[in-house]
Amino acid sequence: MQESKLLLSLALLGSSLYAQPVGALLLEGNCITCHHYTKDISAPSLTRVTQHYKEVYSSKKLFVDALSDFVKKPQEQHSIMLNDVKTYSLMPELAFERSTLQLIAEYLYDNAEDLTPKTLP
Ligand code: HEC
Repeated sequence: MQESKLLLSLALLGSSLYAQPVGALLLEGNCITCHHYTKDISAPSLTRVTQHYKEVYSSKKLFVDALSDFVKKPQEQHSIMLNDVKTYSLMPELAFERSTLQLIAEYLYDNAEDLTPKTLP
């Protein structure tokens, strides 16, 4: 009993300590192939996407939920960037885990002003 409580606290501590670097790593592994940090190339830049979601969603929770929901199953009727859907066509569905998307979304929210490569040398 006590042992499992200890493990649970360690797991919770770990997830908050590592949320930032893990989020950066997951972003680089999963999103950067299409989304550049600051330039619109084959998709809107992560900076523009993040800033637009922050303008529309007033709290971190709403931001994280909306962004994770969209990426989990992209649908035109849930898009808040319809001009980009026209320009680049709808983002494909890529079978991400929701927990992965939440870590990425939290990272984007917390680093909106400074989205640059963090884990690459
Ligand atoms: C295969 C290319 C590709 C990958 C990989 C990709 N995206 Fe996208 N994404 C797009 C394109 C194209 C758009 C613009 C059209 C749209 O909004 O659906 C887009 C749009 C978005 C939007 C705006 C949605 C809206 O409201 O219209 C978000 C948020 C987003 N991507 C997040 C992510 C995240 C987070 C990842 C990594 C987990 C990711 N994308 C990976 C191609 C991609």
